[in-house]
Amino acid sequence: MATTSKQPEKHHIESSPLVISDSFEGYPLNFFNLPLHYRDDLKSVLIPYGLVQDRIEALASRIFSDLHIHIPEQLICMCVLKGGYRFFSDLVSKIQNENRLRNDRSLPMSLEFIRVRSYINDHSTDQTEIIGLSDLNSLKDKHILIVEDIIDTGVTMVALKKELEKFKPKTINVVSLFTKRRNDKKCIFKPDYSGFEVPDHFIVGYALDYNEYFRDLEHICVMKESGIIKYKVAGG
Ligand code: HPA
Ligand code: MG
Repeated sequence: MATTSKQPEKHHIESSPLVISDSFEGYPLNFFNLPLHYRDDLKSVLIPYGLVQDRIEALASRIFSDLHIHIPEQLICMCVLKGGYRFFSDLVSKIQNENRLRNDRSLPMSLEFIRVRSYINDHSTDQTEIIGLSDLNSLKDKHILIVEDIIDTGVTMVALKKELEKFKPKTINVVSLFTKRRNDKKCIFKPDYSGFEVPDHFIVGYALDYNEYFRDLEHICVMKESGIIKYKVAGG
């Protein structure tokens, strides 16, 4: 048997997103079990639920490894509602698994929930409003992990981070399940951790909505143009 003195390479989980290329149009709908009420509005399944879960587990492991060293106190996990709620719930529970299964290290967490509103229809608006942070002064000297569903233009995240920095937390890390590869290259924010980089389509499912529809869909799907028109709201 061949021997080698080389140490096995340390398994390193990527904090940068898994890139879904423009040439990938997604999986055909008829290979998936989709709710009847949305079937006609979707073009394809871009990222199946199972893959989303696998990537979140990997992100949880990476975040745990990175942050437990620097953060002996509680890490404030801050869920950006509503779109982030499923990602937040799955990410936190996967970090809890790490805590439960390891005796050598741990990452204590507390949970916060905020809302940021900046979207009408499928485009970004300039208005950004942050709701739900009651005791802002309690953030002083704390470590925050912002948990977001998707970073598109990055405008919302820049505004949110700026707002939070006013209250002097010790660190702010941002994890976003998706980042969008915008055709106009206008994204102004790169998260510390990201699950997937997606092409410039409007995606829905796994709590990501289009005007409050499609949150109740498991897979990440691309909408049909007819679906975008069907659920459009006035004024957007
Ligand atoms: N889907 C849902 N919400 C979003 C998106 C998207 O593609 N981009 C920004 N917010
Ligand atoms: Mg969001």
